[in-house]
Amino acid sequence: MSTGFPEVNLADPDLYAEGDPHAAWRTLRERAPVHWQPVSDTLGFWSVTRYADVERVLEDHASFTSEQGTLLSLLGRDDPAAGRQMAVTDPPRHDRMRAPLHRALRLRSAEAHADLIRAGVRELLPEAPPGEELTFDLSAACAQLPLVVLGPLLGLPAADRPRLVRLAMMCAAEDDPEHQLPGGPAATLERGHRELFAYFADLVRDRRRRGEPADGHGDLVDVLLAMEVDGRRLTPGEVLSNCYSLLLGASVTLAHVPPATVLELSRTGRYAHWATRPELIDGCVEEALRWASPASHFMRHARRPLDLAGVPVARGDAVVAWLGSANHDPAVFERPRVFDPSRRPNRHLAFGAGPHYCAGASIARVTLRLFFAELFARYEEIEVTGAPRRARSTFLSGITHLPVRVRPRRKEVAR
Ligand code: HEM
Repeated sequence: MSTGFPEVNLADPDLYAEGDPHAAWRTLRERAPVHWQPVSDTLGFWSVTRYADVERVLEDHASFTSEQGTLLSLLGRDDPAAGRQMAVTDPPRHDRMRAPLHRALRLRSAEAHADLIRAGVRELLPEAPPGEELTFDLSAACAQLPLVVLGPLLGLPAADRPRLVRLAMMCAAEDDPEHQLPGGPAATLERGHRELFAYFADLVRDRRRRGEPADGHGDLVDVLLAMEVDGRRLTPGEVLSNCYSLLLGASVTLAHVPPATVLELSRTGRYAHWATRPELIDGCVEEALRWASPASHFMRHARRPLDLAGVPVARGDAVVAWLGSANHDPAVFERPRVFDPSRRPNRHLAFGAGPHYCAGASIARVTLRLFFAELFARYEEIEVTGAPRRARSTFLSGITHLPVRVRPRRKEVAR
């Protein structure tokens, strides 16, 4: 089957590193909102790029399953975690796995950990004497941001953070030359999975040996170990598969929101304007999430023959919902290519929609709020001083290097 738009190839990781995915998404939204993308003679996928179709595909779990893999990197292969890992398990089993984890994440998230997150954020951002400018790589500074949050939640030693970030990037951006191993994308994925699973296998083994926490306040690993689904506890393999999912869900997304935002604020000269309006911090976080859309896509497979916005889709076909495109659909967002923290409403789909709506959304929001509050309080001005480097990945939309020069605020006006 021909695409009809040979200039558009959403499966090409170069599009996201060097091309203009927004132009490609716009073409499809306007001219082929349900679009067949061949990958080989026997393999391909449907792309949906309009907000309404993306929302439908993610919400309608009766028509679209997550159990055949949710990332394009798994196209044409079975997902061994299906039914065992929450993110790739369909309702109703999914809902029984999600409830206790969601409760724990909500409870533990936000305010309970705010002091810890704030302290972690302060360590990430370099300080300079007032009046002296400072240059650094903002993306490198943000790389550890997810682990500042997830470390305490999963009880991960601080010393392990750099290694975990590197392994997570191997699993989420296996096409990126900075993270790819000499053996290529498949070897990178395989090694990343293997090492992360081995890491969590040790962690889970230690935790089982230790038993119930004496103070009754366990971390998320304890929640998973105590979880009963359909009358039985999760197996150790299921526990570590869900630890892996939490690590990946958090670490490849959160870190990429601030650099994308700062790049745009620097480009438009609007940093100082928004940085001095703390009353808009929540709006700024929502707009940053929409703007960055760090998880570019999620995939589903049709459970039955169906009609998708007038296009017949066969049972078993892969359908990829492009969140980054939905979040810039002019049918829903006025002037979508303008970064506007005062945008109301801002019903972005950066956290997805439906039963798999991001389990870490509340904690991600708190973390970003604390991060931007600290950034705005600390630096009066930020200027991007070199070319940003974008990740070569169909999944992760992120800037992996962003050289900046900052001018710290005078102490008496900061915070
Ligand atoms: C800016 C930060 C984040 C973004 C943009 C993001 C995005 C998403 C999206 C789009 C989904 C839906 C996947 C699907 O429909 O198949 C999702 C699911 C998930 N996210 Fe996040 N996420 C973020 C942060 C986090 C954090 C901090 C955690 C952990 C603490 C986390 C854990 C999860 C988990 C476990 C799921 C699966 C939920 C389920 O299947 O019910 N995420 N995330």
